[in-house]
Amino acid sequence: MDSTEKRIYIFDTTLRDGEQSPGASMNPSEKLRIARQLERMGVDIIEAGFPIASEGDFLSVQQIAREIRGAQIAGLARANNEDIDRAWEAIRDAANPRIHTFISSSDIHLKYQLRKSREQVLKEAIAAVERARSYTTNVEFSPMDATRTDKVYLCEMVEAVIAAGASTVNIPDTVGYAIPHEFGSLIAHLCEKVPNISQAVISVHCHNDLGLAVANSLSAVLNGARQIECTINGIGERAGNTAMEEAVMALRTRKDLFGYSTGIKTENIYQSSRLLTQITGIPVQPNKAIVGANAFAHESGIHQDGLIKEKITYEIMTPQSVGISDTHMVLGKHSGRHAVQEHLKKMGFNLTDPELNRVFVRFKELADAKKNIFDEDLEAIIYEELYREEEKYKLIYLNVVSGNIAIPTATMQMEVDKEIVRDAGFGVGAVDATFDAIRKITRTNYDLLRYAVNAISGGTDAQGEVTVQLRFNGRSVVGHGADLDVIVASARAYINALNRLEFLKRDANKIKAEYE
Ligand code: KIV
Ligand code: ZN
Repeated sequence: MDSTEKRIYIFDTTLRDGEQSPGASMNPSEKLRIARQLERMGVDIIEAGFPIASEGDFLSVQQIAREIRGAQIAGLARANNEDIDRAWEAIRDAANPRIHTFISSSDIHLKYQLRKSREQVLKEAIAAVERARSYTTNVEFSPMDATRTDKVYLCEMVEAVIAAGASTVNIPDTVGYAIPHEFGSLIAHLCEKVPNISQAVISVHCHNDLGLAVANSLSAVLNGARQIECTINGIGERAGNTAMEEAVMALRTRKDLFGYSTGIKTENIYQSSRLLTQITGIPVQPNKAIVGANAFAHESGIHQDGLIKEKITYEIMTPQSVGISDTHMVLGKHSGRHAVQEHLKKMGFNLTDPELNRVFVRFKELADAKKNIFDEDLEAIIYEELYREEEKYKLIYLNVVSGNIAIPTATMQMEVDKEIVRDAGFGVGAVDATFDAIRKITRTNYDLLRYAVNAISGGTDAQGEVTVQLRFNGRSVVGHGADLDVIVASARAYINALNRLEFLKRDANKIKAEYE
């Protein structure tokens, strides 16, 4: 991108707001992997977490701040000294650290949640920005629930925090209430009425409760916003946040209208989306814009006819521009180590020699059992072989007897804290029996909230990708597993969820943050 071009800054909050999606909790090494991918993609600011929330969050933000050099690292803090000091402690080693502090500004929040007056909240907002400024000039302030805040009070608060030193003012549509033209007008109103507004970057942070987060963010850009807060695949509280891939591709595809560029290397979008799905187990709906399985699939004969004649007839952007390769199916049992390595590089995975050796062994095993190996198969191998943490529970073997005349029975051996344990389970079907065996072996019995099976690629020899969601103490965790045998994939997914739950339990003191 030409450095003179007008820029929209991309502030990614996948690791903070995104992690607030039910079941999306990630462990520190997974967060670091996402952060590295965000850096590779060219994100300007990575909100790495909410350091005061728990010891685990603190350490994870600190690790990201120390490792990532190519993006600013933000830490979230409520408007009080303790939060701000903790956030600074976590991010201080970053190449360019940012403190993001917030307090509610709507009368609804002030009356029912904070139980404080407007004057009191204004004072706390100013004090918070001053405190943050004592550490860094890179300070972002958010008046939470801005879209339901009295406009005069909002202007007063924005002016005051800029005067106190905020370099970015973020306008959150916390409950996803705004409508695009209204949200755009709000940004225009701030630009017009706040005398010192030009001293700060205006940012927007939109939730998707009415399905309008991306539209609201774009409307804000047309009216003066220069930073968009967003997440990969649009994950986040409730219905989620602005989907980064959608906002970025809209700006790029309709540059004629917006006239702005972002620093995002859009060819990394698809891989980032897949990585997040692999890590969180939260699938992307097939019709999701940009990264859904059908986003570039043309079904109608008339459309296909047009495309054959000239792509521009029905294609407003190419799949390649978001990193979806046209040669999807490539490898098979005759593919050598070098071919696998080269293909992985094209997919964005630069493995070390020992890593490649491990992946290649799994690839060969799979290629012996299955004719064609797809990108998704390779991703599943990489995730299972390289990215799994040191785990409390491991599957050693599983044998299932099932059918319409037998009582479904699963005999299973597992490693639990390095001890070998075996048992048998029974159920109404093969999966039920398998889960019964796991529960007996691990002496656990969590509520199963969701069980879903998906074929990674086409054909009856496709790997099954299973997602299992368990509930623990009001929080939920998602596990996933892949295998040619869906029962084995189910066992892997359940065990993965249990291992993730162990991490969550260690971090159980995490406070329920006072924000949506
Ligand atoms: O939605 C919201 O208001 C937030 C703030 C902390 C920016 O996430
Ligand atoms: Zn939010």
